[in-house]
Amino acid sequence: MAVQIHHGDILYAENKNSLKTHENSYIVVVDGMVEGIYTEIPAQFADAPVTEHGRGVIIPAFSDLHVHASQYTERGLGMDWLLYDWLNDYTFPQEAKFSDLDYAKDTYDAFVDELIANGTFHAAIFATIHRPATNYLFERMEEKGLYGYVGKVNMDMGAPDFLCETTEESLAETEKYLAEHTECTTVKPIITPRFAPTCSQELITGLGKLAQKYKVGLHTHIVESKWEAAEALKLFPDHGSDAEIYERAGLMDNGPVVLAHVIFPTEEDIRIMKKHNAVAVHCPDATTNVIAGIMPLATLQDKGVDVCVGSDVGGGHHLAVYKQVARAVQLSKIKEFYEPQESRTINFANAFYCATKVGGSAFGKMGSLEPGYHFNAIVVDNVEDKGILLTPAERVERFCYIGDDRNIVARYIDGKAL
Ligand code: GUN
Ligand code: FE
Repeated sequence: MAVQIHHGDILYAENKNSLKTHENSYIVVVDGMVEGIYTEIPAQFADAPVTEHGRGVIIPAFSDLHVHASQYTERGLGMDWLLYDWLNDYTFPQEAKFSDLDYAKDTYDAFVDELIANGTFHAAIFATIHRPATNYLFERMEEKGLYGYVGKVNMDMGAPDFLCETTEESLAETEKYLAEHTECTTVKPIITPRFAPTCSQELITGLGKLAQKYKVGLHTHIVESKWEAAEALKLFPDHGSDAEIYERAGLMDNGPVVLAHVIFPTEEDIRIMKKHNAVAVHCPDATTNVIAGIMPLATLQDKGVDVCVGSDVGGGHHLAVYKQVARAVQLSKIKEFYEPQESRTINFANAFYCATKVGGSAFGKMGSLEPGYHFNAIVVDNVEDKGILLTPAERVERFCYIGDDRNIVARYIDGKAL
């Protein structure tokens, strides 16, 4: 039994209404899992090594539930475009480069390093249509001990030839990909049809069969813009909602269901998401960069849908999930101001909860520091002004607004220091 103890201020979100703080406390970690939090070291752990974190605040690592690793090198570029043009003129040519494995390796190495630097230890990731490059990303994530769902993207229409598969190819390559990863550890495959406008009905139906055969979940984009929502129903005319396209194919019953953006959900989308315990991923930066719509976050929560947070790089421009926490609060105010009947302001605790405990739950017992959770944690420090002491909650809030990776002074996955 390996025991370690960390001393400092400890903070996590218990639920959407409250941040739990343990000041000047000891968190006991046994075999990589949180055993408990104490104001004094319990006698049975008296011999365990103690790491002192001073004024650092120990918080759960972040979860990014929607990010395109292949778009890492385009972050912060092409940001004056909107979705359709941004995809066709900017992003698709960029993703086509991942047919070259050497090119892909450089991007994916940098991407994984930057996830770790920013305290994101759990992520649901789009790669590209290319299986060899996707496998490299998968293995790189595992090598670093990160938790993830990595998807080989499917697209057999609605995109230029250089980034389109035939339906048969798309299904065959996906099946190979799933078969290659039946014995995985911290990273798992997930079926990743890009979105309705780039997937034929035959492809979606075939993916549903693979999902059932290999027992894997779904990661896609739904109702992300007015154009996409209308296009989905035009291309799948006998369907009543964007979500139903995936539900009817049997893609929502075999693992986590991760739906990015969910900006214009109908009552039917909401009913289907609830029925299949889908998580709706709020991506504040992408929303303001390439989508121009704001998720009705509080309304979705009120209706029983779990909401988590994603960076959506390169639609979003930075991998830091903590920055998305701050922006989620900001955007909720704008939404309430312009559309008071649609949603309302959320507080910091709620946004932090979405980015840690809700997001983490897609991977197992992660995203909190309560007993029984993985000790996947970071320590944030050096956010106070000289002579002005802040509470742990204030320090974490400030970190999310103005901090960067230099404020993350320690990182642990399953108790192991990185
Ligand atoms: N919808 C389909 N593909 C994409 C993508 O790469 N980024 C975003 N934000 N939305 C998408
Ligand atoms: Fe996306």
